[in-house]
Order: sequence, then structure tokens, then C-alpha cells
Amino acid sequence: MSDVLDRLRALQEGDLPTHGGSTLAYVYDSGLAEADEVGRQALALYGSANGLDPTVFPSLRTLENEVVGWAARLMQGPDAVGTVTSGGTESILLAVQTARDASPGVASPSMVLPSTAHAAFHKAAHYLGVRAVVVDVEPGSYRARPDAMAAACDDTTVLVVASAPSYAHGVVDPVPEIAEAASARGIRFHVDACIGGWVLPYLRADGVDVPDYDFAVPGVTSVSVDLHKYAYTPKGASILLHRTAGLRRPQYFAHADWPGYTMLNSTMQSTKSGAPLAAAWAVLQHIGDDGYQRLARTSYDATLRLAAAAGAIDGLTVLAPPETTLVALRSDERADVFTIADEMAAQGWFVQPQLSFRDQAPSLHLSMSAATAPRLDELIEALTASVRTAQAAGPVQVPKSWRRRPRHSIRPLWTTPPSTVCWSSPVSGRVRRCRSEWRR
Ligand SMILES: Cc1ncc(COP(=O)(O)O)c(C=O)c1O
Repeated sequence: MSDVLDRLRALQEGDLPTHGGSTLAYVYDSGLAEADEVGRQALALYGSANGLDPTVFPSLRTLENEVVGWAARLMQGPDAVGTVTSGGTESILLAVQTARDASPGVASPSMVLPSTAHAAFHKAAHYLGVRAVVVDVEPGSYRARPDAMAAACDDTTVLVVASAPSYAHGVVDPVPEIAEAASARGIRFHVDACIGGWVLPYLRADGVDVPDYDFAVPGVTSVSVDLHKYAYTPKGASILLHRTAGLRRPQYFAHADWPGYTMLNSTMQSTKSGAPLAAAWAVLQHIGDDGYQRLARTSYDATLRLAAAAGAIDGLTVLAPPETTLVALRSDERADVFTIADEMAAQGWFVQPQLSFRDQAPSLHLSMSAATAPRLDELIEALTASVRTAQAAGPVQVPKSWRRRPRHSIRPLWTTPPSTVCWSSPVSGRVRRCRSEWRR
């Protein structure tokens, strides 16, 4: 047995570290070893339990009700009901599916999104046949424009979307204004609080001036909140909340017209492990409201300090003042953010490059976990040094024959239909940039 586990550990050595605070995207680390251990033990206890049928695993129903109740309280929805899903993308897929199926009379349904909405909405559009009507955000603030979103709504609109906050820039969209426009037209309005939902309420409780974004705003009909991000629970847990049980009804899928058991599902999955739910429940109980308030404050303060320090580095700009625990940075023309990210990686820090989008230059994304806060000075030092080194190297020079290709690209690596073309660095071989291309 130990051989098998040794092999797993050896394989994991090639992965990004999930703990220790040096990974600033993909994973979230509370720094609380006991909370991690509670989560691990709950995962092991529930690995074989099946969330397919809560009548035979009633403990899972109890756990789900308690976790959803916690989230409904945080999102200020006294009548809100919800479902635990496998992640933010599944919560979003279900929100879109529910809105679509609530309007069966709309032949060609659409949803209105700010251009900063998470890619999961585009996945939902693709899977569910709901057209994404994308509205540019306000230049400079990167916030959704309520007037433009209202103007983009028509008879086919079944859902309007905002983020609290957006992943790429970390800003909260003007939810009350968008809600007003949506409810005046009788359209459902989803707030994607996948990344901010377990931070914003605790920051508010701690005295931070947090914009309105949840069910306290009339017109918000559903909210997604991930547990496997800032609730610091093991991967595989998010929540989709609806303001009322009636609004949730179209989310259910039921089928009895076959010779087997009646299938009645509230999620995309049917058989599903009870482990992520049990682990989420256990970690929530262990950390508690006071613990989350402390964790939110710790990572928020660290984010503000990081933004101030990064903004003072010659050549770096903070794209938007942080409102939660996310920060996005841009480099001036003297350096490539991709080179800065590589330099950071060489020093043991993972920061996430974000590709250029429309008229926006590439940037670096950093999600601040509580576990990074004690290492903030080290992080700032590494960032400062990485920017210097990247500036000394200069931006990647592209041969003339490649001019029409993206600036950092050198060598085509692969093409996948319907054509995302990616290029790799000639030095490291790492993928540098991808571009969607529609080819015959
Ligand atoms: C705002 C937002 N929405 C949705 C998602 C998708 O969540 P997941 O990766 O859990 O599917 C993310 C992930 O970072 C996010 O930040």
C-alpha cells in the first residue's frame, strides 16, 4: 500500500503546491492545518456515499441543508433555497439552465453578460443553447455598465448577469442598478459571487464598506458562491442559491419513463460523491463565522498592502483598486507579464498570466489566500526582483514574419478545432498565448 501512496506523492511533486501560500491562483489556503485535517478526514469518511438519493443517505441531506442555510444567511436571503454543486461552473450552468427552462416560450433564449463575466457563462451558452450577449464594461473601472446592459435586453433575454467580484479584475459590478433594470423587465438576475461570496459578508461584518450585491438587493434572483475557494474547503463544493423555492423549480430534472429507478436530480451530476459536501460542512463547522471573519480580514489587508507595494514598483500598474482579495497587475512596455510570471515561478511563486483581451493588455492575476499574508514581504520582494529582471530582458522580440501573430508568440504548438491556436516560448517550451481562430 505504501508503494502506491509513495507513487502518488512522487507524481504530486510536479504539481503546484496547494499549501504554503506560494500559489496565487487555482488553490486557496487558510493556513489552518487543523481545518485541513478535518476536511481530509471528512473526505475519507464520505468518499463512497452517494448524493444521488438523499432518502437513502439522509445524512447528506442534513449536511446540504445546513451548508445551504449558512450561505443563505450570508447572502441575506431569508427565503432562499439552494443546492450544493461540484463547483462554480456547475452552479453557473444550473443558474443558466434554470432561467432558460423558466421561459419555455422563448424560442431563441439569450443572456446579457458584462464582458468580464466568468468563462463559465460562455460554457453555459455553448452547452445550453442560450446566446451570450456580451456588453463591454466601463473602461478604467472594469465595471459593468447598467445602462448598456439594460439596452442589450430584449424579448429573448432570460437572464442578466453580474459578478461580485469579477475574476480578472476583482471589482464588484453595480448590482443594484443592474437589478433594477432586470426586474423592471421581469428578467432573472444572477450574481456570480463564486469567488467573493465567502469574503464580502465577513468583510462587511468586520467594518469594511462593501457594495450591495446579494439578496438584500431587490431583483437579484440567484447567487452562486463557491466553498472550495474562500471557504477554504477541499475541491468540489459550490452553492447555487435562488431567492425563493418557486424560482428554483425548473432546476430539477426528473425522469421515471424507463425501467429503472426514478431519477430526480437537482444538479448536473446524478451519482455524486458525498465527500466534498461532507468535507465542506466539516471545515465550515471547524472554522466558524469568527474564523472566517479573521481569514477574510487577513487576506483583504494583505491584498491592499500588496496592491500598494505593486503599484509603487516602477513599471507596474494595479488595474483596479482591490475590493476583495484579488488583484490584477499590468506591466508597461519595458517588460512582458509572461516573463515576470516566469521569473516569479523561478523564485517559487505562482502568479497567473491573463491574456490580452480586446483593447486590454495582458495582466497578472493574484488571488490572495490567508496563508500568503505572513509571507507578504517575501512576495513583494520576489515581485520587485522579477519586474527588474523582466525589464532587463526586455519584451520578447517577434520576428517580422510573425507580426500578425500575438506579440509574445514564436512557434505554433497545437491547434484544436474550432481553432484555439496556442504558441509556446522558444526557451521554456511553456505555452505563452492562445488565440481563438475560426477556420474553414
Ligand atoms: C467569479 C467566478 N465565477 C466562476 C468561477 C468558476 O468556478 P470553478 O472553477 O469552481 O468552476 C470562478 C473561478 O475562479 C470565478 O472566479
